[in-house]
Amino acid sequence: QTVLLLWAVIGYLIGSVPFGILITKAMGLGNLRDIGSGNIGATNVLRTGSKPAAAATLLLDGGKGALAVLLARAMVGEDAAQVAGLLAFLGHCFPVWLKFKGGKGVATFLGLMLALAWPVGIACCATWLAGAYLSRISSVGALVAALSSPIWMVILGYPQAMALAIVLTLIVFVRHAANIRRILSGKEPRIGAGK
Ligand code: G3P
Repeated sequence: QTVLLLWAVIGYLIGSVPFGILITKAMGLGNLRDIGSGNIGATNVLRTGSKPAAAATLLLDGGKGALAVLLARAMVGEDAAQVAGLLAFLGHCFPVWLKFKGGKGVATFLGLMLALAWPVGIACCATWLAGAYLSRISSVGALVAALSSPIWMVILGYPQAMALAIVLTLIVFVRHAANIRRILSGKEPRIGAGK
């Protein structure tokens, strides 16, 4: 129990590093909070006009989810890996450094899925890409990828991680409440629509 609690804390701290904010600041791209949706994720970093900054944010936000899972698995085991992954995701969404006002968790979700159950991670990334490509809306890709994750867990043989996938999906949907409202009213911006 104590060891799981320790990995919850480590996972949270890893996930709470707001790479989008750090990268845009370091590259002099302005204050991410004043741009687009104000979100700290790669989609909003792209609205600064810098593709390299957006790609770096995507990779690092994804990487921290994967890192939390891989470290916990290597040092303890599968239970700790799930706890660390969940808490890395929560750390991204509710980072203490930003007064708990963080991101929507999509990149971190994809990264932790890749580390937790790589076939599911690949299937979720593919679903995300397909959803975003077909709709031209990043949040649509994120929502369908999250929704598909418990299904992929079962189809691809990881039923032990299905509960985690369901919890993550619920949080992704709650974090996208404003996006869902905009999607339904046809006001959600398309990828490449600029600031
Ligand atoms: O990953 C977040 C994405 O799904 C939506 O981001 O900035 O358009 O709210 P944004």
